[in-house]
Amino acid sequence: MAAYPELQGKVAIITGAGRRGGLGAAIAMRLAAEGAHAVVADLGAAAGPHLPASAIGASSEMQAVVAEINAAGGSALALPCNMLDGAAVEQLVDSTVARLGCVDILVNNAGIGYLMKPIVDMSLEEWDTVLGVNLRGVFAATQAVAKRFAAQAAAGRHGGRIINIASQAAKSGFPHAASYCASKHGLVGLTRVAAIELAPLGVTVNAVCPNHVTTGLGAWQNEYFAKLLGKSVEQYLADMRARIPLGRPGLPGDTAAAVAFLCSEQAQYITGESMNVSGGEEMH
Ligand SMILES: NC(=O)c1ccc[n+]([C@@H]2O[C@H](COP(=O)([O-])OP(=O)(O)OC[C@H]3O[C@@H](n4cnc5c(N)ncnc54)[C@H](O)[C@@H]3O)[C@@H](O)[C@H]2O)c1
Repeated sequence: MAAYPELQGKVAIITGAGRRGGLGAAIAMRLAAEGAHAVVADLGAAAGPHLPASAIGASSEMQAVVAEINAAGGSALALPCNMLDGAAVEQLVDSTVARLGCVDILVNNAGIGYLMKPIVDMSLEEWDTVLGVNLRGVFAATQAVAKRFAAQAAAGRHGGRIINIASQAAKSGFPHAASYCASKHGLVGLTRVAAIELAPLGVTVNAVCPNHVTTGLGAWQNEYFAKLLGKSVEQYLADMRARIPLGRPGLPGDTAAAVAFLCSEQAQYITGESMNVSGGEEMH
């Protein structure tokens, strides 16, 4: 049963939603279960050495996410988009409006967290790729959707929602994650500015900051940090559970539930927030 009936018929773009087991796929499924039309946006194919097939949502996976939503009685379509390409991001918004008539919700979920290195070893090109997807890509999508929200408001369709999937790494530092942490901390700032600028349109802008979730990316990070700390993955995860007050890492559904709430009318007076979804691990 839908928790938020007001989301029925809303048009939601979710970036990075084409990887099975990922946060974006869970968000798309949850918003579709609430009755929204889900635009499953993702890369669709490898794009050079920093965006390899092993780490991205392939076209077949995007179609599988869409098929699962439609089989469950929801409404979804797949649109490939590389968030590093500003023109492609504008096209994503234009194609959504051409296919579905408008856009109501943007969930900036696409991100990369696997280019981890000590500061002294990280190349500027690697830095640019992480910042390019995780921050510049979010800015490009925010800009494109903000223009659309303004046009829709002028035509009498006031309002909208933007949700940025930041991270615990938006609030705390982690070793070998300078670019990732900088990009996610940057998202908090972008969220605040966008919240102020878009408020006159009735648009709210918030970030969600999950702690660890064992998605495809999360599994890679478990291996990486376990090795870095000289532990087995099992021990690394046991230590993680022990330091999280609620006793477990996050699940994709935890983040999806927070996103659905922030999209709902219940959250109409919440904007500019960066909300932890971390079982109490992150409290500021
Ligand atoms: N898993 C975690 O522990 C965790 C914790 C906090 C925040 N996050 C954030 O949640 C988001 C989703 O991560 P996830 O864990 O589901 O990982 P994931 O790898 O399953 O999903 C990331 C998605 O982003 C897409 N993407 C990457 N580069 C892209 C580009 N240039 N254009 C379009 N799409 C691109 C990938 O194809 C992939 O589908 C990310 O922003 C990540 O930083 C994850």
